[in-house]
Amino acid sequence: MKQLLDNCTFVIFGATGNLARTKLMPALYHLCMDDLLPKDITILGVARSIADRDEWLTELRSDLKGCVRDGLDEAVFKRFCSHLDCLRTGLRTTEDYQQLSDYIEKKNFSKNIAFYFSLPPSLYAAVVASLSGIGLLKQEQGWRRVVVEKPFGSDLETAKNLQRHFERCLEESQIYRIDHYLGKETVQNVQVFRFANLLLEPLWNRNYIDHVQISHAETIGIGSRSVYYDGIGALRDMIQSHLLQLLSLVAMEPPVSMQAEDLRDEKVKLLRSISAIPKGSVSSHAFRAQYAAGDVDEKMVKGYLQEENIPQDSVCETYAALKLYINNWRWRGVPFYLRTGKRMKEKHSMIAICFRQTPKQFFRTSQLEQFKPNWLLIGIQPDASLRMELTVKKPGLEMQTKVISLDASFNDDVSRDAYEGLLLDVMEGDHSLFLRSDEVEESWKIIDPVLRSWASQQDYIRTYDSGSWGPEESLRLFEKEGQRWRSSLEPE
Ligand code: BG6
Repeated sequence: MKQLLDNCTFVIFGATGNLARTKLMPALYHLCMDDLLPKDITILGVARSIADRDEWLTELRSDLKGCVRDGLDEAVFKRFCSHLDCLRTGLRTTEDYQQLSDYIEKKNFSKNIAFYFSLPPSLYAAVVASLSGIGLLKQEQGWRRVVVEKPFGSDLETAKNLQRHFERCLEESQIYRIDHYLGKETVQNVQVFRFANLLLEPLWNRNYIDHVQISHAETIGIGSRSVYYDGIGALRDMIQSHLLQLLSLVAMEPPVSMQAEDLRDEKVKLLRSISAIPKGSVSSHAFRAQYAAGDVDEKMVKGYLQEENIPQDSVCETYAALKLYINNWRWRGVPFYLRTGKRMKEKHSMIAICFRQTPKQFFRTSQLEQFKPNWLLIGIQPDASLRMELTVKKPGLEMQTKVISLDASFNDDVSRDAYEGLLLDVMEGDHSLFLRSDEVEESWKIIDPVLRSWASQQDYIRTYDSGSWGPEESLRLFEKEGQRWRSSLEPE
């Protein structure tokens, strides 16, 4: 457990927005409940739409009621409120920032300050410049940190541009680029699984692994996020960040140590080894589609184009799949398939590793029959689990086989939300689970050719029924006939 953190002021810009209400405040509440917050921390909510403290707390109370573990505990809520303060201000004019600076000074809040940008990314550069202009990023009397959500830029060029703005005002060590997937218990377990067990290491390479699938499916649609989502799409929203991070963890070499820079060096090295998708081959490496109306969990839902504020001619993808190759000693020739989709049949994220076939198939009864290859399945959510599929003999007189699964589920232990650990890391100054600028840029480099190609095809996008596993046509990405997306942890 983390303890003895510096006292600090945790400023949340956009305190009345969706992220703050559904993720940040519940995470801070849980940390308060478990006595993990710094003793005298102030959490300062900043937003133009805050009326006053009482109203803000009333709304917060009702938000938390709906989402905290084991129901809202009044005593904990009271303790939590003693750490909360709010300021009604915009983030546009110098006066706005002066007001913020004066308030922190007047209230004598801790001079260790983290600024959490729960804001549209288009505001990042201006807010950083204004904070810097008023002197709030100077680390003279305490540390100053800035936390930003993805996407950091919208392609390589804009990411570099944004980075240049940040560099003018901040040291890299002051910047925390969040990828909440890195805060997930099961994702961190990928590292432990790989680097604390010797068993699989000899097999973890192109000699034994046929291909790897990293798959994220969710049943929700875009909900009220149309303004953010349309024009961003699934490739930027999920693959550029979360799925490429999962890929790095699965495929990177063991780092020198688990310290932040060593870990991030290794991830960058891996991302740099990914072969660029040639301009003329985008269609054999990438696939996109958009959800149409359909039946999810026995409820009819609308298609993407019928969602609020979506232009009727939008070709924004809600499903994206990619085939990537890692051009290094360990992985050359092994395809890595990444897939993400909204409004799919089930909420489900997993890493599925398909081993090669045995060199000779002894136990088949017919020429046509083929043994199933071994799979290793790492369930990320909702089932946190590790399963190894093996072929065994069916009990009986005949020599028949079946696939069984050795199951090491660890569901019971996973209750913390990813944001809890990540927010503590910000307070502690630990960058291990945050993205470095070169990591972000390498990720953009990988997907930029696809973005460019898709941007030039504005007249058509395939659709898939909501509640399905996405379009069958995406199977064309697979190298070998008969290969399919794994959508379940159960043996197929
Ligand atoms: C977010 C994306 O980063 O991750 C969302 O912006 C997506 O569109 C979400 O729904 C998925 O996260 P999780 O933790 O629910 O898998």
